[in-house]
Amino acid sequence: MKTVRLVSSGLEMPIVGLGTWRAQPQEVESAVNAALECGYRHIDTAFNYNTEEPIGNVLKAWLDSGKLKREDLFITTKLPNFGNRPSDVERFLNLSLEKLQLSYVDLYLMHMPFSFHLNEATMAPLINEDGSFSLDLVDYVDTWKVMQKQVEQGKVRSIGVSNFNAEQLRRLHDCAEIKPEVLQVEMHAYLQQKNLRQLCQSLNVAVTAYSPLGSPGANSHFSAKYNYSLNDFPDILGHPLVKELAEKYSKSPGQILLRHLTQENVIVIPKSGNPERIKANLDIFDFELEQEDLTKLDQLDKGENGRIFNFLFFKGVENHPCYPFKKPEEVLERQEEREGSTKQL
Ligand SMILES: NC(=O)c1ccc[n+]([C@@H]2O[C@H](COP(=O)([O-])OP(=O)(O)OC[C@H]3O[C@@H](n4cnc5c(N)ncnc54)[C@H](OP(=O)(O)O)[C@@H]3O)[C@@H](O)[C@H]2O)c1
Repeated sequence: MKTVRLVSSGLEMPIVGLGTWRAQPQEVESAVNAALECGYRHIDTAFNYNTEEPIGNVLKAWLDSGKLKREDLFITTKLPNFGNRPSDVERFLNLSLEKLQLSYVDLYLMHMPFSFHLNEATMAPLINEDGSFSLDLVDYVDTWKVMQKQVEQGKVRSIGVSNFNAEQLRRLHDCAEIKPEVLQVEMHAYLQQKNLRQLCQSLNVAVTAYSPLGSPGANSHFSAKYNYSLNDFPDILGHPLVKELAEKYSKSPGQILLRHLTQENVIVIPKSGNPERIKANLDIFDFELEQEDLTKLDQLDKGENGRIFNFLFFKGVENHPCYPFKKPEEVLERQEEREGSTKQL
């Protein structure tokens, strides 16, 4: 399996990992088993996903049987944003390690740069009476200082961040003693984030693309859980160019999208609960997209208009000073400006 080297820790991170968000416990166990059987060694989870426990059960069985050694695996989990207070970091990491039945994780990510207050009774974000999320003004640099200590204690082999924008990543990088090694952000053909990728390269930060297939099914999840949905939810797998290239290379649309990212050294973590798709999502190393096809795929980029995860399903989040993205009205304004300037031409 192709890997990406993390510069400070020297770890080799497998370029394809199994995503586990939105998977049910039973589904996760069979998905992780199927993934390990067909050669995955990198699993992505988070405190928030409620998948650490079933993943831990499967890992324990594989490790106990001697089929795998701990050092063969690359396990990522994430600090929830209601655990960003420096005094909470170690507690949340310990809970994750306990559920995963591991003494360390390979990568620990700060899930979000903005924090919510913790509801101690539910171990979930505190929600205000009007349904908005209770914003906690934690500085992510303070959270990071405690994450660094976890590396020193051997509970974590590398640390990184998720959902940070360029400015936040640069600021953290400047302040950090142990530099962030990975940035995990939404990335796919409609949101390619080339500038952010360049910044990461210049800072020696590896990039992981989440929702690399465009997260089909996420909209129904948003609407069921948060009563929130995106207009025009994208169907990237169904885009005519992606389908045309799938035919040309005798691959599936999913494999074309994953190859588009990994060919440029971006780590991908597609989620699937289906054994055939799990296998197919790893089977992307026996072909290479030609330059002209990479260029055509690059042209599918919609910039900020391609973003699915703006986190506005967390009511009121855009008022947090660390909210990382453009607000929807700004995205719309920019789109109108662009259309206006094209018309003028
Ligand atoms: N850091 C963050 O804030 C963050 C946010 C979102 C996601 N993530 C991580 O990134 C992972 C991946 O993102 P995601 O789950 O949002 O979306 P995704 O991987 O882009 O898409 C997953 C969906 O695509 C389907 N699928 C999988 N392989 C396929 C294929 N080859 N062809 C067609 N459909 C396919 C899956 O259905 P089946 O299961 O039926 O195959 C599932 O519904 C997550 O699971 C999570 O680990 C992180």
